[in-house]
Amino acid sequence: MFHIKTLNKISPLGMEKFDRSTYAWGDDIENPDAVMVRSASMHDMEMPESLLAIARAGAGVNNIPLDKCAEEGIVVFNTPGANANAVKEIVLLGLLLSSRKIAPAIEWVQSLKGQGAEVGKLVEKGKSNFVGPELKGKKLGVIGLGAIGVLVANAAISLGMTVYGYDPYLSVDAAWGMHTSVIHATSLRDIYENCDYITLHVPCNTETKGMINASSISMMKTGVRILNFARGELVVEEDMLSALDEKKVTVYVTDFPTEAQLGHNGVVALPHLGASTPESEDNCAKMAAEELITYLESGNIVNS
Ligand code: MLT
Repeated sequence: MFHIKTLNKISPLGMEKFDRSTYAWGDDIENPDAVMVRSASMHDMEMPESLLAIARAGAGVNNIPLDKCAEEGIVVFNTPGANANAVKEIVLLGLLLSSRKIAPAIEWVQSLKGQGAEVGKLVEKGKSNFVGPELKGKKLGVIGLGAIGVLVANAAISLGMTVYGYDPYLSVDAAWGMHTSVIHATSLRDIYENCDYITLHVPCNTETKGMINASSISMMKTGVRILNFARGELVVEEDMLSALDEKKVTVYVTDFPTEAQLGHNGVVALPHLGASTPESEDNCAKMAAEELITYLESGNIVNS
């Protein structure tokens, strides 16, 4: 019998993959062979001696103490690509939010409650305050060409944007495959100097942490719009807020809100909702369960 501890609510479609005659699971399992986790942090957790593997139902593994796992021989799986479509969709929303003044316009319309029959007239009169540029014809830099970055790039091309792609780890040709309409940026500088919009799709690690800072922002076009749906720590917040004050950056869209950002001009902040769709939660849970089953039953490490 294998015992799986669930640290978050994992989609039943994933848990159903475990045969009840061979597996027991729940949040109260004491000496688990494996853990299934979404975004709960495991950094302060004691690793039970019984633990063989951790499956992260999601892409980023920064909620898992990888060094400790390596020392103790605990195998860590994630589910790259399983939530990519959901994240792509929210990035497209982010592009629109960064360009058209949708968020303040919605807030303003709500503020008209109580104006009775005047609402229609007030809306018509005030709408000129919410003009924002189209995406078509603008240049988008996609930093990170994994499953999400590639989907975002393709979607942006279909919106008429010119897309520059760069990946610090991957040969661009390998990442793009057939996507020939993407301009292959040769360096980050290439992206910074050319793009009107920049979106981040890299993991947060020692090489990427703080990559958007005063120095990289200084290379960018004045008025650039930056999207960060990847990890908050990729951006040095103080530098970003100064760049917004100086109007070097027009808009910063992020789903990692902090107190300092709230009420700051140019920040569009929302919860980390990119992967929060039933489809994505099902896909991640199913992939994580399959990876664990393969490992526990055959010893083979297959990280999808
Ligand atoms: C991921 O790493 O998969 C996404 O950021 C969503 C999540 O944190 O679950």
